[in-house]
Amino acid sequence: MTDTYLTLVNSGISKTIAKKLGLPRPVPLRRFRPGQPLVSGPVLVLHDAASTTDADAVADALVGWDLDVRRHAGSADRYAAVVLVLTGASHPSDLSAPVLATAGTLRSLAPAGRVVTVSRPAGTDDAPAVAAARQGVDGLLRSLAKELRGGSTGNGVVVADGVEVGAPSVLGALRFFLSTRSAFVDGQLLAVDSAAGTLPGDWDTPLAGRVAVVTGAARGIGASIAATLARDGATVVAVDVPAAGERLAHVANSVRGSALQLDITAADAGERIIEHAVTRHGRLDVVVHNAGITRDKLLANMTPDRWDAVLAVNVAAQLRIDEALLAARGVRAGVLADAPRIVSLASTSGIAGNRGQTNYAASKGGVIGMVRATAPLLAAHGGTANAVAPGFIETEMTARIPAVTRQVARRINSLQQGGQPVDVAEAVAFLASPQAGGVVGRTLRVCGQNMVGA
Ligand code: NAI
Repeated sequence: MTDTYLTLVNSGISKTIAKKLGLPRPVPLRRFRPGQPLVSGPVLVLHDAASTTDADAVADALVGWDLDVRRHAGSADRYAAVVLVLTGASHPSDLSAPVLATAGTLRSLAPAGRVVTVSRPAGTDDAPAVAAARQGVDGLLRSLAKELRGGSTGNGVVVADGVEVGAPSVLGALRFFLSTRSAFVDGQLLAVDSAAGTLPGDWDTPLAGRVAVVTGAARGIGASIAATLARDGATVVAVDVPAAGERLAHVANSVRGSALQLDITAADAGERIIEHAVTRHGRLDVVVHNAGITRDKLLANMTPDRWDAVLAVNVAAQLRIDEALLAARGVRAGVLADAPRIVSLASTSGIAGNRGQTNYAASKGGVIGMVRATAPLLAAHGGTANAVAPGFIETEMTARIPAVTRQVARRINSLQQGGQPVDVAEAVAFLASPQAGGVVGRTLRVCGQNMVGA
């Protein structure tokens, strides 16, 4: 789908008119292209008084990525990114100096700039002042993300106590948030729960040697996930219903993978996926549960077929396939053997609710609960299960939304536009990568910081 308004307010006279009228002026987001620099310009690393060691670890990693790292505000005219290390904050007053130093850089932050916080979670075992400082970072980050303009984003990495700031998933998440791969991720705080995970030998192909299954791959977000995982080095098995066979074959061919025509609600879907992946490609490492449907109705008008179909495709099929995968793990060679990854598609509707979508939201809320409980079953083998919750993404699914509702849905996020399928695909690829091994049972929103929900 084309967002005509986005094109209009970025061209000629209509740009000036929109500015004069105070209308939303979304800018086209900069998206990842292989070969482009990770960050185009100096990166400022600031920290609270007790975080010097952690800030040094972050700065060392950034230097290792060939970035131009600065340690003092004022050492450059314009920054491409600011990394705010607040892991040592033990009282809200500790935030003042680094946050106010950040404030001074914001007016000259480069377009598509990045602000990333690195902090610790507020727990019930913390002293009240410590918890206040830590939870304060949450509110600060979410508000700052709403103030940024020009396609800039603000996100945070929340590092569990006991996990070092130099752990692979902390650096992996930091790199994801700094890069254009996270163009439509805004206002999010991603938890890193463990020190598991490994840094890839080559950041451009972190999935080299991995075999990934993507369901619902014939079009939309699924097709983009297939392309993105293949770009990152994976061999892809593209799955979709037989009725979508032609488009499925096209996707599979374009990523040099293979196609499996399969309705995921079939009782033997899990076994057929395993059989195909192992027979054709020798192993199965990553499963992306992307296939999904909507059958919207107010609950007062809900019919059993609409309720049941949505629950069956969006969550029950995933549960059944995961059960088959877990049963085959350790029994059948090559199945989820080494640092496996399951990534499911949830939705912001499953978090915030959406009128007319009780069935869909029940299924997507279900996915969020499912990955949380599935993750520990894989953790012993270096594996993870996580979810991505897209907001409004421009696909055939959202093209069916009535025009006025669609326009509103596009604008009510901090980036004032809908996301593209590739934005979801990039988040899936990150969670599927070795550098996300410490992100366990979490749901990452890709919604441009939608005003609906947390
Ligand atoms: P889409 O409708 O464009 O594509 C879904 C694909 O899944 C289709 O190719 C379809 O044939 C396939 N599929 C449906 N039922 C299947 C079954 N039983 N077995 C195998 N394949 C099946 O959807 P879109 O927009 O690409 O969404 C992909 C995922 O992202 C879905 O889970 C959706 O709920 C989720 N999502 C999408 C959002 C959006 O704004 N487009 C927002 C939030 C979540």
